Amino acid sequence: MLKCDQSCGTLLGIFLLAMIVSVPARSQDKYHLGKKATPAEIAGWNIDVRPDGQGLPAGQGSVNQGNDVYDANCAACHGTFGESNEYLALTAVATKLNYATTLFDYINRAMPFPHSKSLTADQVYAVSAYVLNLNNVVPNDFVANKDTLPKVKMPYRDGFKTFPGLMSVHGKPDVHNTACMKHCAKDVKVTADLPKGFVKNLYGDIRDNFRGLASMNETAPPKSELTAAVVGGKELLAKNGCTACHALDQKVVGPAFRAVADKYRGNAGAVKLLSAKIKNGGAGVWGTIPMPPHPDLSQADLEIMTRWVLDQTSKK
Ligand code: HEC
Ligand code: HEC
Repeated sequence: MLKCDQSCGTLLGIFLLAMIVSVPARSQDKYHLGKKATPAEIAGWNIDVRPDGQGLPAGQGSVNQGNDVYDANCAACHGTFGESNEYLALTAVATKLNYATTLFDYINRAMPFPHSKSLTADQVYAVSAYVLNLNNVVPNDFVANKDTLPKVKMPYRDGFKTFPGLMSVHGKPDVHNTACMKHCAKDVKVTADLPKGFVKNLYGDIRDNFRGLASMNETAPPKSELTAAVVGGKELLAKNGCTACHALDQKVVGPAFRAVADKYRGNAGAVKLLSAKIKNGGAGVWGTIPMPPHPDLSQADLEIMTRWVLDQTSKK
């Protein structure tokens, strides 16, 4: 997570701004490429919030409102009370940040993963207030806005140390051996090791941790209602990476599977048509973004996935 003091934040801001402003302008002059960034385009990127609150938008949100935002958008990954360490335990945020405004900045730019920037300013204020309350940093009646948030003092604000060995090129690192440059040992014997498989299997098979199908689990019909042809369809969609771009109820990069099912409901040729479309890729039916081709999928797998998708219609 970003830990930055005032000067570092300012420098970063100036650097980014310089890039945005100068690069298009220069290349335009010299190479006749690109165009000047418009103020609206710059505003879209210029979302950083500084420790002193500079950059915070208008709006506000209370701990209670944040509770609702959190349950709907964050709890699945971070645990009902921010306790889940499967991703990052949000109840530990207070020990990691010197400014509460950085929490706002982070949530605002990166969360809820993978739908960052989907919350309104009010919702980000509210959920920041709630996370701070979970950390016992603010009281239950706290309302976050651009005046109150910079005034919150994080408990470890003055407890952070920089470690010169890591932070500076000339710093002395924490290993004190001299590097061997000549007559070095030919065979190196490793004398200490982590228990075999410990790190490798720490998270199991990471494909099992994939959360893209969470919303499908809630709404998909129970297994007994599925016909033989669509059993395994959901697993194939995850295995073949389809759920990186598709979700059941909402548009991601590609259309919501439910919307696809509704569109082709009653269309006798849909399985054939869509199987071919998935295999060959294409654009224009749902917008201008293309779906890449999937040439290596077997006809059987294509049809199982297509039937599963078509089975998700809301108009039964
Ligand atoms: C799909 C899972 C997912 C959802 C939903 C999600 N997060 Fe996260 N969150 C993550 C992951 C993964 C990270 C770690 C990212 C990294 O380190 O690059 C993270 C990191 C964070 C951090 C930084 C914590 C730290 O200790 O540094 C905060 C704060 C946070 N999330 C808040 C939220 C809030 C608030 C929401 C809801 C609006 C939310 N997240 C929704 C997965 C999720
Ligand atoms: C990189 C993103 C991406 C991936 C990966 C992806 N899709 Fe798509 N998908 C799209 C887009 C974008 C569209 C809309 C295309 C259009 O407008 O014609 C789409 C459309 C579809 C449609 C509707 C097609 C139509 O003509 O109405 C189906 C069904 C579909 N995808 C299934 C799948 C399946 C199954 C997989 C996995 C094998 C998959 N998609 C993987 C992006 C993706």
